[in-house]
Amino acid sequence: MTRYLVTSALPYANGPIHFGHVIGAYLPADVYVRTLRMQGEEALYVCGADEHGVAITIGAERDGIAYPEYVARWRTEIKRTFDRLGLEFDVWSGTSISPFHAELSQDFFRRIDRNGFLVQRETEQLYCTTDRMFLADRYVTGTCPSCGFESARGDECPRCAKWLNPLDFADPRCKVCGTTPERRRTTHWYLDLPKVRDEFLGSWIANHEWKPNVGAFIANQMKEIEPRPITRDMSWGVPLPADTAGDITGKVLYVWFDAPIGYVSFTREWAESKGEPEAWKRWWQDSQTRLVHFIGKDNIPFHCVVFPAMLHATKAGYVLPWQVPANEFYNLQGRKFSTSGGWTIPLDEFFAKFDAQATRFYLLASAPETKDSEFNWKDFQACNNAQLADAIGNLVTRVLKFVDKHYAGHIPACAPEHEAELDRVLLTECGAFGDPAESIRAFRFRRAAEQLIENARVANVFVDRSAPWSLQKTDPARAASVLATCAEWIGYVARWMAPFMPEKAQAIWAMLGQSGSVTARGWPAPPVAGQWRLGLAGSKLGAVAGLFPKIDDATVAAEIAALEERAKQVAAG
Ligand code: 2FM
Ligand code: ZN
Repeated sequence: MTRYLVTSALPYANGPIHFGHVIGAYLPADVYVRTLRMQGEEALYVCGADEHGVAITIGAERDGIAYPEYVARWRTEIKRTFDRLGLEFDVWSGTSISPFHAELSQDFFRRIDRNGFLVQRETEQLYCTTDRMFLADRYVTGTCPSCGFESARGDECPRCAKWLNPLDFADPRCKVCGTTPERRRTTHWYLDLPKVRDEFLGSWIANHEWKPNVGAFIANQMKEIEPRPITRDMSWGVPLPADTAGDITGKVLYVWFDAPIGYVSFTREWAESKGEPEAWKRWWQDSQTRLVHFIGKDNIPFHCVVFPAMLHATKAGYVLPWQVPANEFYNLQGRKFSTSGGWTIPLDEFFAKFDAQATRFYLLASAPETKDSEFNWKDFQACNNAQLADAIGNLVTRVLKFVDKHYAGHIPACAPEHEAELDRVLLTECGAFGDPAESIRAFRFRRAAEQLIENARVANVFVDRSAPWSLQKTDPARAASVLATCAEWIGYVARWMAPFMPEKAQAIWAMLGQSGSVTARGWPAPPVAGQWRLGLAGSKLGAVAGLFPKIDDATVAAEIAALEERAKQVAAG
């Protein structure tokens, strides 16, 4: 049977996570896995922190902390944010602590070398005479030769996402001290990407069905492909295997070589923790696996080109990515998120005031799937108030409070003589409804969010048309059938909601008087007249309470003002 191995980009353990990251690579994956599981699919969700490389060493040096302590702090902090948002990984680890990671990364290197896909080259590299070190990757900053962005990093441009060679910068500077570095000679190992392309990657990429934004990006990249250095002159990282032919003194594997291997080593760690050390092979070396990488746009080249090239070059039977649902960029209120520039939302404050489940929904509803999008405070308010509070919350409370009051807290039954007619009205006359899982499986989370609201609105239209409150006085038997039908539909809404807002879905399930977990009940088949009811009649309701408190205008205005003030203060130093 097909199984789904789902990964989210390993976040660098060098700073806080913001909503741009969350919606880029994590939340959609969590929703995807929850949906698959409710549909009875086998899925494993793997993540952890990316703890090597220059992004880490620069941060730790700036803060004056040892590298292991620095990454441990951010590994914990990032996980805390994920926990608050209800992201549930099967394994969460870190590339500097996972017990199999160094050994497995070295195994990849050795195999790729043995199979003839590594070349050793002596080249020039930038060297800072003040700091007395080679400036790997982000230790160099300068103007992107491709798009002109002034603060490009030595390895890639954060604006145009092009791979860069710091030697191409007209104005290279050392990130640590600002000195203009000089060129010196050093030896490195390169992954022979043109060779992998000719043997396999070119045709694999051409024949693969990619998301359109992903396909266009990598087709370009394939034309310009060159061997990529996969070692660095640094002390923090996975050392090269001791038996490597050549001088390996002071060299480690490049972070982008070891990081994606983290997906595999963390899976091994998971297998080990389950007491089935060999189980990881079922996920990584079996053709029934569909490997899905959730990432942001800037990670496309590494997940669609370099990592597949590495996996192939090991010749160890690893599965290759099946889908890479990469997102575009997510901004905040018209500008890029910037933690250092104060253009961000401090999450401790945010979660003290706003609901994490509603936030999940809003982020998904505004996801940057096909183009850049943004967190916008007024949109967040409108989404919470008009969609969640009005369409879902109000439906649940008005129906269930009425049932509570008029039927002694028990869901009434639908009389057999009313069933066919009420099914027809609900399922065909109250508006269109769709299956959010179809959209989720096609990585269309915005559409799935719309469908969820549309589906809830069907019941609102049904309630308005059937007016059970007045029917109660004139035709109580029919009123009972209408309310029974509404309660059944609410049971569907709870299940459709579960991947998006698991806690709210569970709360509704409990209000409906159902024991156990709503997810255990499984994903609903599309409702069909005469067959769709779950049989909730007779259930004793749980306590019925409001689900989504409304957010008022003053609160939103205060948040926007605070954001602007924060940025102003940072700018003023
Ligand atoms: O861009 C980033 O945040 C990287 N740390 C992503 C790494 S993904 C993987 F390959 F590990
Ligand atoms: Zn320097």
